Amino acid sequence: MPKSEFYGKSVLITGGMGFIGSNLAIRLTELGANVTILDAMIADYGGNEFNIMPVNDQVRVNFCDIRDESAVTYLVRGKDYVFHLAGQVCHLMSMTNPFPDIDMNITATAILMEACRKYNPDAVVVYTGTRGQYGPSVSLPVNEEAPTNPKGIYEISNLTAEKIIKVYNDVHGIRSVLLRLSNIYGPRSQMRHSRFGVCNWFVRLAMDNQPIQVFGDGSILRDFCYVDDTVEAILRVAITPAAYGEIFNVGSDIPVTFLELVKVIIKQAGRGQWNFAEFSPERKAQEPGDFYSDVNKILRFTGWVPETSLEDGLTKTIDYYTKYGAHYWDTQFGRELINVQTAPLSTHK
Ligand SMILES: NC(=O)c1ccc[n+]([C@@H]2O[C@H](COP(=O)([O-])OP(=O)(O)OC[C@H]3O[C@@H](n4cnc5c(N)ncnc54)[C@H](O)[C@@H]3O)[C@@H](O)[C@H]2O)c1
Repeated sequence: MPKSEFYGKSVLITGGMGFIGSNLAIRLTELGANVTILDAMIADYGGNEFNIMPVNDQVRVNFCDIRDESAVTYLVRGKDYVFHLAGQVCHLMSMTNPFPDIDMNITATAILMEACRKYNPDAVVVYTGTRGQYGPSVSLPVNEEAPTNPKGIYEISNLTAEKIIKVYNDVHGIRSVLLRLSNIYGPRSQMRHSRFGVCNWFVRLAMDNQPIQVFGDGSILRDFCYVDDTVEAILRVAITPAAYGEIFNVGSDIPVTFLELVKVIIKQAGRGQWNFAEFSPERKAQEPGDFYSDVNKILRFTGWVPETSLEDGLTKTIDYYTKYGAHYWDTQFGRELINVQTAPLSTHK
């Protein structure tokens, strides 16, 4: 990443106190950008003031909601880049209450894009959607031409946000890039509950030496992408004019089963145990089956490839939470465990 591309540029990161947003804020600050963060610190999501500790005195933070039209209108002005990461992030919640998704992912995205259209049409916008927008895979690996048949409201709201932004790109000329992220893991993710961020949640369980529950027979495939690689992908598309208006997968394209993932986590953590467990009915209903990304398109456009192996990424993640875990959960061996399924079938070390 050439430092000059972001040096002295003004950037806005919505959701910048969260997992991916804070890693992005730190990297952009290192690259010399003037970073403004917008974040409402929604309870249970990943916002954490400790996340931006390394750049605390170098970034500007606005604690406001992305649905606040006047705040957003004010904040987009003068920005060279807008990285749009704030939103409703919980698949499970979206199936019991669809309205936060409609509000935070759809309405708020329209508010942001309208603000850009009216007050800063020269900004470049990058949006982080989800691999869930595809729904069940028709063939593997999944490329950007695959059909989109999402299985949940969260995924539909991400797809809708993507389409709204694409219209602003195509019709109003707001240069935008649409990303579909796979399962991202690494430092600065919330570790308090299991409702999203499965890989990080498993890391916490291993570190607390609590049983990790592997749903079904553990054979479902996913590609887990380390957050630094994800940040690099976000930055590369932002500075690649040929990428504007395009959709890109961001994943690791190396499929692993959940069982393999758990075994690697336990190995890298040097502790932990696991057992098979039944899917809860709501998880089963939303499970799209095997997925892993074809990342050839983003490679072709930007030269990006995920560089961090699962082993290295997990070691860095474990090192981070070994040092700073107290800022993410009560480290007294799982005292605060939330949402852990019961009924293990048998336990393995
Ligand atoms: N982490 C992943 O594996 C993953 C995978 C696919 C897509 N994504 C997408 O990437 C984006 C970032 O995800 P993350 O993992 O960093 O989540 P996160 O929960 O750690 O961060 C999201 C941040 O957005 C803020 N936020 C939410 N709603 C807001 C609102 N209405 N106004 C202002 N701030 C608000 C939250 O307070 C939080 O700090 C999300 O849009 C998510 O859907 C993440």
